[in-house]
Amino acid sequence: MNGFTYHNPVKVVFGNGTFAQAGEEAAKLGKRAFVVSYGDGSVAGTLARLAELLDAAGVASEQFLEVVPNPPIEMVARGVERAKAFGADFVIGIGGGSAMDAAKAVAAGVLYTHGDLWNMVYASHSNVTAQPPESALPLLLIPTLPATGSEMNMCSVVSSTTRGKKSYIWADCLFAKTAILDPELTYTLPPFQTACGSVDAISHVLEIYINGQDKSDLLHEWQLGLMRTIVENLPVVLKNPTDPDARAELMWCATCGLNGWASPGDAWTPMHQVGHVLTSRHGINHGSSLAIVMPAWMDYHKALKPARYAAFARKVMGICGDGKTDAQLADEGIAAFRAFIKECGVPTTLSEKGVTEADIPGIVEGVKSVSFNADGVLSSNPPVTAEALAEILKKAL
Ligand code: NZQ
Ligand code: ZN
Repeated sequence: MNGFTYHNPVKVVFGNGTFAQAGEEAAKLGKRAFVVSYGDGSVAGTLARLAELLDAAGVASEQFLEVVPNPPIEMVARGVERAKAFGADFVIGIGGGSAMDAAKAVAAGVLYTHGDLWNMVYASHSNVTAQPPESALPLLLIPTLPATGSEMNMCSVVSSTTRGKKSYIWADCLFAKTAILDPELTYTLPPFQTACGSVDAISHVLEIYINGQDKSDLLHEWQLGLMRTIVENLPVVLKNPTDPDARAELMWCATCGLNGWASPGDAWTPMHQVGHVLTSRHGINHGSSLAIVMPAWMDYHKALKPARYAAFARKVMGICGDGKTDAQLADEGIAAFRAFIKECGVPTTLSEKGVTEADIPGIVEGVKSVSFNADGVLSSNPPVTAEALAEILKKAL
């Protein structure tokens, strides 16, 4: 079992109805809240209620409703100016990962002293010039879409429309002070967003599960249990979007999938980096990009760790292992996983998104420019070359 250092200071308030505590929790963080969210109405009712709760708690607030998926740093910069002009003393991010990540970047941007906000971003893995933020305004995060785990981690993923890139800011100051997780806020999610969120949450755990150390029993059972819980509860929610228990399971799984508990001592595969390039070059949303990359990557990688994939087949996909070899189980598990994602309404191939074989070299170049190490490979176990990445993408066609 690998050693690790673990730190997560986020106070979590979880449960149906906990949104009612937003005013009270906000008042502990400051007197002037800058609220960051979407502006197209998808969470309008929730925003109106938040304004009432803040008002009742004596907290002045201003709403900045310019967030769009894959939040552009250029929008964040406008938010920073507005937050400064308002005299915000804390920031509330309410929405999915894009809203929470934008809120984090605004909170850090207000206090940023290293010039252009894009300097905060690890725009390339070998980029040693990134200047992550050292401080941020206090953050209250309220997810309305279970997916990214942003509410309980120190990451903010942003893009740049002018640079055509998407990457992340990673800094201690991006941990929220408080996160309110009320599953009822997710009842309005359309089925596609719900499914994409669950696929994303699975990927956060799967990437580490297949990439990581050989012996870490509790970690592997935790990872398998988390993925199984999503696989069991997503179909329930798609059938009944207001099922309180299943919605709650999905929400807590998404948070626990990327708050550090599913990864101590281990590193990820670079599937997310590939996904980010599919988003920035081909406009494929985050969950969909991973629905495409994951099964192809697993197919490419399965022979290296048949027992790990066999356990995935049995314990996540519920396949009976009697009389089967690990290799057979691995194949069945991956096929069942792909079918599950499709049944939940998320495409699993590049071609369904209009991406062809001719696009593959460009995608590989995109991944290289952001994620390849100085030694010319992608960090993974084992490392992945450009040629191997092209192979994986061909499997995803
Ligand atoms: O477009 P509209 O109609 O407004 O739909 C919104 C939103 O645009 C809708 N939505 C959210 N909550 C809703 C709702 N609709 C109805 N009812 C609700 N309760 O969902 C759309 C998508 O939202 P978005 O915030 O983009 O989704 P998600 O939570 O999947 O976040 C994706 C972003 O997070 C980043 C991704 O790269 C992407 O930019 N990630 C952040 C991570 C982190 N901070 O740790 C890690 C992740 O791996 C990921 O990279
Ligand atoms: Zn993700």
